Amino acid sequence: MSEPTRFALMASGKGSNARALLQAWGTEILPKELIAFVGIVSDQPEALALQLGAEYNIDATCIARTGFTRQDHEMRILQHLKNIGVEHLILAGYMRLLSPFFLEQFPGKIINIHPSLLPEYPGLHAIERQYEAGVRITGATVHYVDAGMDTGDIILQNSITMTGDENLEQFQKRIQCEVEHVIYPQAVRIFIEQCANTCAKNLSTKS
Ligand code: GRF
Repeated sequence: MSEPTRFALMASGKGSNARALLQAWGTEILPKELIAFVGIVSDQPEALALQLGAEYNIDATCIARTGFTRQDHEMRILQHLKNIGVEHLILAGYMRLLSPFFLEQFPGKIINIHPSLLPEYPGLHAIERQYEAGVRITGATVHYVDAGMDTGDIILQNSITMTGDENLEQFQKRIQCEVEHVIYPQAVRIFIEQCANTCAKNLSTKS
């Protein structure tokens, strides 16, 4: 049997999506034979996501931005990912766009979650902007990461209908708990299967 694919999670904030993925790890949807979470990387020393490392017994490393150019910061992250043997990346609230150079190191191997029904409301503050606009049908989207802002191919999305009575906090909580935390593990499973198919196709065209 082949080895599990090695993933790292990248997060800048509270890490509720990273937690949802780690909670699903070892269940039927993300079995340990298929996937190994080998690290959590943050650019923010205060990120609560880093605390998940101790809980799940995996490496959790902060590579802070302060004092580094964007390029140097990315080089440090890439070196760390190489050291811990990461093959695929999951962005879970990582709040910095990755450069084309960084993306080239993981072609088709980075995914992200965004709190809207893309292509609606890409970019920062998507929840606040939807709330202000009175959006009633919203949701979340998991997509491949390309050099644009939330523009990569969609893997999975699901919607939720707001009552219109939610305050901003409830609006955000419903998107996160009822959609994001449910679809992210499902999307990671699809992602692994798509990667396995691509690898199989590449092998058969080479032989
Ligand atoms: C999520 O809403 C995600 O869609 C966006 O950033 C937020 C991260 O939240 N990319 P958390 O840190 O996972 O709780």
